[in-house]
Amino acid sequence: MMKTHTCGELRRSHVGQTVTLAGWVHRRRDHGGLIFIDLRDRWGITQVVFDSSAYPEAHQVAARFRNEYVVQITGQVRARPAGLENPKMATGDIEVLGQHAVILNEAKTPPFYINEDVDVDETLRLRYRYLDLRRERMQRNMVLRHRVVKFMRDYLDARGFIEIETPILIKSTPEGARDYLVPSRLHKGRFYALPQSPQQLKQLLMVAGIERYFQIARCFRDEDQRADRQPEFTQLDLEMSFVDQEDILQLIEGLFISLVEAMRRPFEEGGMGLTKTIQQIPFPRLSYEEAMNRYGTDKPDLRFGMEIIDFSDVVAGSSFGVFANALAAGGKVKGLCVPGAGSYTRKQLDELSLLAQRLGAKGLVWMIPDAEGVRSPAAKFLTPEEIRGIIQRAGAGPEDLILLAADKPEVVAEVLGELRVEMGRRLGLLDENVLAFCWIVDFPLLEWSEEEQRYTAKHHPFTSARDEDWDLLETNPAAVRAKAYDIVLNGYEVGGGSIRIHRRDLQNRLFRVLGLSEEEIQAQFGHMLEAFEYGAPPHGGIAPGIDRIVMLLAGEPNIREVIAFPKTQSAVDLMTGAPSPVSPRQLQELHIRIVED
Ligand code: AMO
Ligand code: AMP
Repeated sequence: MMKTHTCGELRRSHVGQTVTLAGWVHRRRDHGGLIFIDLRDRWGITQVVFDSSAYPEAHQVAARFRNEYVVQITGQVRARPAGLENPKMATGDIEVLGQHAVILNEAKTPPFYINEDVDVDETLRLRYRYLDLRRERMQRNMVLRHRVVKFMRDYLDARGFIEIETPILIKSTPEGARDYLVPSRLHKGRFYALPQSPQQLKQLLMVAGIERYFQIARCFRDEDQRADRQPEFTQLDLEMSFVDQEDILQLIEGLFISLVEAMRRPFEEGGMGLTKTIQQIPFPRLSYEEAMNRYGTDKPDLRFGMEIIDFSDVVAGSSFGVFANALAAGGKVKGLCVPGAGSYTRKQLDELSLLAQRLGAKGLVWMIPDAEGVRSPAAKFLTPEEIRGIIQRAGAGPEDLILLAADKPEVVAEVLGELRVEMGRRLGLLDENVLAFCWIVDFPLLEWSEEEQRYTAKHHPFTSARDEDWDLLETNPAAVRAKAYDIVLNGYEVGGGSIRIHRRDLQNRLFRVLGLSEEEIQAQFGHMLEAFEYGAPPHGGIAPGIDRIVMLLAGEPNIREVIAFPKTQSAVDLMTGAPSPVSPRQLQELHIRIVED
């Protein structure tokens, strides 16, 4: 090894030892006869002093050091003089007196500061990701990710799971997001797809008798990017046989509780010294319907209350056109009571209305209770009883703000769900140190697609209905509830799964309700149905999204911060330039012609 110790290792107990360190020049201070170097490697920073009167040759070499040069130094560990210790550095009690120095490689001036945690344009960071990853925050994120994944592997290994790799080149299937396709050279006009998840393969592993499978699995989905979405991302994919929903929930809840415990432990003990705590154990469980009603979303942030309030009955007979029309059309009048926002100015309230409109609302009625009754642009359209009824239902006082939306139930849910989180953020209710896990259960099995004019699977088409709901499949498909569950953390869906259909007849029935013809079923899913005829055990699973979990544990605003080499919002790799053109020859081999449009 080119080093005897890491840059994070030396303590008072090493004083007197001769050591060799190697790493990057983090910072240098040149005081003429004395040069101070902060030498950095992945483990930390050590101060090295070069003294021209003691070791002139080493001092001469150090005089040529610049930031980010790769250097090796040998010297003696000594205690820092009393009063000059640096309690902020793990190695702050000591320094190394440089006796010999070598420049292993020079470095151009980096395009941004590596030794300071300053905001840098993300485009630049992604272009020079290898430099960005040198920064302390990113190194910490990479270590956190490693420790989270290692924890998951150990946890599942201890419970009899085995990790099995599944192929990356698979068959394209229609359900779900858009596939990434790979053209076949050997089979003209045919394509592989990259897996959106190993869903079918893990089920086939259950048919294969594996019983407990997991995989740190890369998944690929060609969909619009967001802060919590990447074209390729990583799941902790798992599947079990001979289980029902409750078994999976218990296993995963236990995993997350132990994971947080482990990451709270000090760094030296394999943890990350996290200070975050879990809000409630056991994790609260909400049905899909309840979540939609109370929070307007199936991924509620439970760190704060401010639940959605239904005013439909209170304003049922109202002559106010906005309310009356919405109710007459089968819609709802619902709202939020925002505590302490009664002081909002007219300008702020107008901005909120604009925000609601951007979210799809036709408008937003605001109300602030006062001595005379209420301050509101809608006051003149409402009777005193209606106003009193609204204030009472909201439980609002003069310091509070009531926001009301009237529309189709889905629109009201979407708008108020988003407004709730926005107001929670503005009021500082999103406590960074709290991890509010919850389960969402009892999802509908199917949802109606206006676009396709047919039912589609809400989770995926292998998800089982609840036993008592199978009878409704053909007669009232929308009412069938699934054995599906999501785990949600601080407003993010961090995992989803289901108990699967394991019988050919039931799977066939579902495919038919999804509008697939016998030929389509055979062509697309024949292999699954055939497998189900050879003794498929009851099985189910889940897939927590590792990027999102690590993002939330790290307190980062997006998953790019916890992925070593992520892509931009437009799915571009700024470092390598992918996607990029290929040679005409490559295209020819693949039987592909680019059509200009
Ligand atoms: P699902 O599609 O719900 O389920 O995905 C599971 C989890 O993966 C994460 N995730 C993503 N993370 C980052 N970028 C993306 N584009 C992205 N898409 C999904 C989320 C999500 O909860 N095969 C099923 C699981 C099963 O039924 O067992 C599946 O993939 O955290
Ligand atoms: P209008 O009748 O369009 O002038 O709207 C009267 C008030 O009701 C305005 O403050 C609008 O922002 C608000 N408003 C209009 N449509 C809705 C709606 N669907 N839900 C809530 N408020 C609305």
